[in-house]
Order: sequence, then C-alpha cells, then structure tokens
Amino acid sequence: MNLLAELRSRLRQALVSFTDAPDSFVEMLKPTTDTKFGDFQANCAMPLAKQHKQPPRDMAQAIIAKLDVADICDTPEIAGPGFINLRVKTDYLALETAKLCRDERLGVAPVGTPRTYIVDFSSPNVAKPMHVGHLRSTVIGHALYKVLKFLGHHVLSDNHVGDWGTQFGMIIYGYKHFRDQAAYEQAPVAELARLYRLVNQLSDYHEVVAKLPKLQQELPLKVQAVAAAKATATANPADKDAARNLKRQEQDLAASKDEIESAKKKIEAVDANPHLKALADAHPQIAELARRETAKLHAGDAENKRLWDEFVPQCLQALESVYQRFGVKFDMTLGESWYNPMLAGTVEELKRKKLAVESNGATCVFIEGNEAPFIVQKADGAFTYATTDLATIRHRVETLHADASLYVVDSRQGEHFQLLFSTAKKLGFDKTEFRHVSFGTVLGDDRRPFKTRSGDTVGLESLLDEAVQNARKIVDVNSVHLPDEERGRVAELVGIGAIIYVDLNHNRDSDYVFSWEKMLATNGDTATYIQYAYARVCGILRKGEVDVAALRGEDAPIILGSPAERVLALQLNAFDQAVSDVAVDYRPNLLTQYLFETANIFAQFYDKCIVLKEPDAALRTSRLLLCDATARVLKQGLELLGIGVTEQM
Ligand code: ARG
Repeated sequence: MNLLAELRSRLRQALVSFTDAPDSFVEMLKPTTDTKFGDFQANCAMPLAKQHKQPPRDMAQAIIAKLDVADICDTPEIAGPGFINLRVKTDYLALETAKLCRDERLGVAPVGTPRTYIVDFSSPNVAKPMHVGHLRSTVIGHALYKVLKFLGHHVLSDNHVGDWGTQFGMIIYGYKHFRDQAAYEQAPVAELARLYRLVNQLSDYHEVVAKLPKLQQELPLKVQAVAAAKATATANPADKDAARNLKRQEQDLAASKDEIESAKKKIEAVDANPHLKALADAHPQIAELARRETAKLHAGDAENKRLWDEFVPQCLQALESVYQRFGVKFDMTLGESWYNPMLAGTVEELKRKKLAVESNGATCVFIEGNEAPFIVQKADGAFTYATTDLATIRHRVETLHADASLYVVDSRQGEHFQLLFSTAKKLGFDKTEFRHVSFGTVLGDDRRPFKTRSGDTVGLESLLDEAVQNARKIVDVNSVHLPDEERGRVAELVGIGAIIYVDLNHNRDSDYVFSWEKMLATNGDTATYIQYAYARVCGILRKGEVDVAALRGEDAPIILGSPAERVLALQLNAFDQAVSDVAVDYRPNLLTQYLFETANIFAQFYDKCIVLKEPDAALRTSRLLLCDATARVLKQGLELLGIGVTEQM
C-alpha cells in the first residue's frame, strides 16, 4: 500500500471543503524526518488559514474534523503553529507490511491507465566509438525505460543513432584516401575511428589556419574595448549597464584568447608532424570534399552507398559490446538513415502548410520567441537533424501510437528540442507529450568536460574497464572468501554499478565531477554500499538456512514492537512512492535516494533487533520477513536502475 498516496487522497477529500484548488496543499503532506512528529506531517493549515483569515491552529482543527483517516492513523495531532501530525496505527502498518512481504510487486501498484512511451536514449553518432558523453543518456534512459515498464506502461526504447550525418562523409573520404587496409581488416571500427579523427583534424587545421589572422587582428580592438568599458565603469560606479558591459567585453576578450590559443595548438599539432603536414598540404579542400561525399551518399551514389552498407553494421556491432555490459537492449534501432525516404515529404508538408519559408536559400521554420530558425533544408539541398526528428515524430505518433516521447539528450540540445516540439505542435501533433529529458555534463577535476590526461575524450569502453579494475581491488580486500573467478564477476557488477549509480544519483540537470574514490566507497551513497547491504541481508537468510519461499508462504504476521522495526516497515511501504516519483518528472535520483535510505534504515534495524538468535519464534519469523522484503526491495530497486546485485560479495 502506498501510504503517502492514500493519506494524500484522504486529505484531498477533507480539503475540498476549504479550497477549490487542493493540489498544492495536498502535496504539503509529507513523511516526517523525525518520528516525534508522527510518521507524516501536513503543513497546509498555515497557508489555508491565511486565505481564510483564521488562526492556523483553528484551521488545522477544522481540517482534522473533516479528515477521515481513523482506519489508518491514530487521532491526528496539532503541533506548533498548526502542523497536522499523523501517526500510522501500528496494527494497520503491520498488516500492510505483511501483504507487501508476500507481494511479487513489493507493493508497487501498476498504473491505472497505461500510456505508450517511446524512450529515445543513448542515440550516439555511430562513426566513432562511444565516449563518456554517451554515458548519461544511456544510463538515465535505461533507468527510465525500466521504471516506466515496471509501472505497467507500454514502453519502447529507440536508439536513434546518427548514421547518416556529415561524419559519414568524413569516414568515406578518409577511407578513400588514407586507409590502412591491414588495420581495417584487423579492427575495422578502430580504423574507421582513426580515419574520422584524421579527417576531422585536417579539416580543422585548414579552418583555423584560415581564421587565425583575423582573430589576431581583432584582438587589440577587443583589448581596447575592455579598456574603454573599464574607464566608463570606473567613472560611473553606480551605472549597472556600464558594469554589465564591462563584464561582457571581458568575457568576449577571454573567449577570443581561448580561441586563439586553441587554434594555435591545432596548427602546431599538424605542423610539428611532417607526415600530418604533408597530408594537410595535399588535401587543402578536405572539409568541402568530405561534405560532398556525404551529399553523394544522400543522393544514392552507388560506391558511397556500398561503403556505408559495409561500415554501419560494424559500427553498430561495436556499440553492442558497451550495451551488453550495461545490460541494455533496445526495442528498436531506427537510425537517422531510416527516415531518409520521408525527409523530402516532411519539408513539402511544412511548405504546403505555410509553416516553413525560404530564408537565405534555406528552408526554415520560425518559431515566435526564438531568434534561431529551425532549418529543415539547407541551401545546398541537404536535409538536417531537424528534418529527421520531424519525420521521427510522425512515425512515433502515427505508427507507434505514442502518448509520450522522451528524448534523453544533453542539455546543450535544448534549443533544438524546443524548436522541434513547437514545430510538431504546429503540424498537429498536439496530443503527445514531447519531453526533452535533459542532463548536464560529466566534468573532470578541473571542472571542465571530463578528458583523459592527454586531452582526448574518454572512451566509454575504457572507462568501464577502469571501473571494473578499481572495483576488483575492493572486492579482493572485502571478499577474500570468494574464489578468483567469482571475484571477477562481482567486480564487473560493482564497477559498472558504481558508474551507473553516481550518474543517476545526481540531479540530472546538474553537471557533476567524476571521482573514482567517491563512487566506489563501500560506506557512502554508492551502488557498492547498497550492493553490500543486499548481500548482507542475503547472508543473514543464508546463515539461518531460511527457506524464503516457505517463509513467504506462511501466514505469519508482522510484529512491529520496536521503533526500528516500525521505521523499516514504513520505508518498505514507501517503495511504491519512490518508483512512481521517478516517472513524474523523469528523475531516477529519487530512487537512488530511496535505496540509500533503505540500506541505512536496514542497518539501524539490524543493529537494534536480534534476528537469527531471537528466541521468540513468531518475532524471529516477522524479522526474517522484514529482512527478506528489504533484500527484494533493494534488488528490485537497483535492477530498475540497471544495476545488478549478487547474493555473495
Ligand atoms: N545523435 C545525436 C547526438 O549524438 C543524439 C540524438 C538524440 N535523439 C534525437 N531524436 N534527436 O547528438
């Protein structure tokens, strides 16, 4: 039973006598953090009293008079200025907990009206190996997929891979001019990735060589602008506009300096390497020629299509090994290329409906309130990421009958999704919930995007390897009793689990700093800690030689004689709430938080209550049932997040 939800619904019934809009007041009923205020506390009497111009305690009294919770709670109490404290009747809690202990779904009720969800996650551009930037989308998306499914929704995962973009022109160009045939035969994806990086580097080189003189010319002007702004700001210390202008000029100057610095580095890297320099000199038009390869591919050129057909399956295969380690399986992998046949029609429709117009040769949708146009066809005729996403929406709504489409994508794409969803609405897709489930960046110690020491992006595969290696050290210390092979298996669960957990445990909108030490702490807010808690409970049941199936099968009651047992019972009954909360605003951190608390509360219970050696048979059984339910909640909860557990660590 979801106690919080039930009590809120009772409170709502009481509040309709006092307000037409009870929702926000109902939300003010929350679990307490200190049992001396009861188990739940509502502080809605104070704001309602203001509305009714009444003393708050009188208001609280009036609410209580209407509140029908006698079957669930002791008589409600009013505390302080008008808090309403509710304490669940221990007998009631014991009965509900006894049900939960036998419930396959651990009290999590399936939703009354299931929706069809599409969860678009991971969705890397496939021409290069996955890197740390793909971590968040993959683990957040996977967790949401599993949670929504467990809640009883119809959920489809879609890996909207970038398999049709400019990068394919780059690897095709690289393949035609720079490939190492032996390397390609040995490890095709690694060779394609090398070619991609090489073409990228050479294109960049020519671009910055062309741009640097202008940047350097502008620099003194920017220095002057800062000096002038500073003079104005100093002369008028009260002038906020002047201060703001100074700040803007300083930022602009700093950005220019950074850009010059980075351009110089790029040039130096090529100039210092005779082989690269020779390649750069021999391919001055490389960026344009790579773009032409993409255009040829899109126009159906036989040779480029043949190469693309050869490359893509290998690229997808390489992604698969990462997905396997995360336990991720997609229901669909409909990449950008899949929508190619629908793109021309999409633009046609936009034009026909007068939603898209010509602007500087390109075809664009303009959305009021947005400066940036939503470009659906470029001046050279190429369709864009935007066009593909519009075609994707049509497919998801019309063919897959989506009620909701979630895009688990980096927050830096916020503007794209804003324009996309607005355009979709104008096209008449207004019954579907479109949601950019955005997330921040993984940072290094220097608070900049996480890079290797040499400045490269961190490969996801090697990140996972390192996590497992680090986990192995911990397992070797803590699990001496396990045979070597088993320790290897546990280290994989611990290492990958640690990475998934830290990522999910942060508010998804924030950036976070990646830290090995913190994420593998056996005593802290980590997957490792919760995995150990799970194994510990399993250890108790194992040591007691408890037949858990028989234990659950018995009709034995739950006995909640001590505060520690009560607190644990309340926590177990809150599992439904924690899982449902994740789905409200697509926030897996609400479940990590709950699981960490559960592990802590169990530790307190086990500290205070004798279990295996409890002489009273009925009490022993009750406590074993609580142990068993805790283990199942921890396991189920971690699994919903994509994190594995093992009974022995
Ligand atoms: N491939 C894109 C990228 O790497 C992400 C795609 C997200 N999904 C979508 N339907 N736009 O940035």
